[in-house]
Amino acid sequence: MSAEASPFDPRDVRLRPIRPDDKVLLQRGLANLSLESTVQRFLGPKPSFSGAELRYLTEVDMTDHVALVAMLGDELIAVGRFVRDPKHPHQAEVAITVGDPWQGKGLGTLLGDALVEAARERGITEFTALLQGTNRAAHRLFSHVAGQLTTRTADGVDELVGALA
Ligand SMILES: CC(C)(COP(=O)(O)OP(=O)(O)OC[C@H]1O[C@@H](n2cnc3c(N)ncnc32)[C@H](O)[C@@H]1OP(=O)(O)O)[C@@H](O)C(=O)NCCC(=O)NCCS
Repeated sequence: MSAEASPFDPRDVRLRPIRPDDKVLLQRGLANLSLESTVQRFLGPKPSFSGAELRYLTEVDMTDHVALVAMLGDELIAVGRFVRDPKHPHQAEVAITVGDPWQGKGLGTLLGDALVEAARERGITEFTALLQGTNRAAHRLFSHVAGQLTTRTADGVDELVGALA
């Protein structure tokens, strides 16, 4: 997720599962993310990932924790993941981050659709998400991938639960 946008053709974007050797790319992606996008994703500032966080985010089992990256050449330009709730195994929390230069071009939707397909294959029927109330793009994306059923709001953060589209 570099600060400068590469020439962009959606047909050149390749989705693949995240890999343990993506740690450097992921750390670089966070460093290049604007403060606004970082706060939207993590609901607070997040200057860097710790080693333990990088292991958690990249060493996934692809069953209960599925993470996909969008690659443009050798650049990681977006990442999307869901993590199954052990107490409610039919539910998973979803989170998607698109690098600032590539936002608003359909990449979030592309990742969201791929995550829905992966979730269905794994017996997940509902996505949950924690979104800032002001994050219009994320709200639209969530209602695209998961019809919005319920919303609870606390401190400006909406907790959404939706059946998979
Ligand atoms: C939220 C996010 C993942 C959306 O991905 P994206 O690639 O920018 O979005 P898309 O181009 O696929 O568009 C998704 C929807 O949002 C709408 N949208 C996109 N940018 C928007 C904006 N700035 N304001 C309002 N709506 C917007 C699109 O029109 C589309 O809605 P539609 O399907 O009803 O037409 C991305 O903007 C992002 O990474 N933001 C920072 C991190 C974040 O907020 N993550 C979500 C919380 S986990």
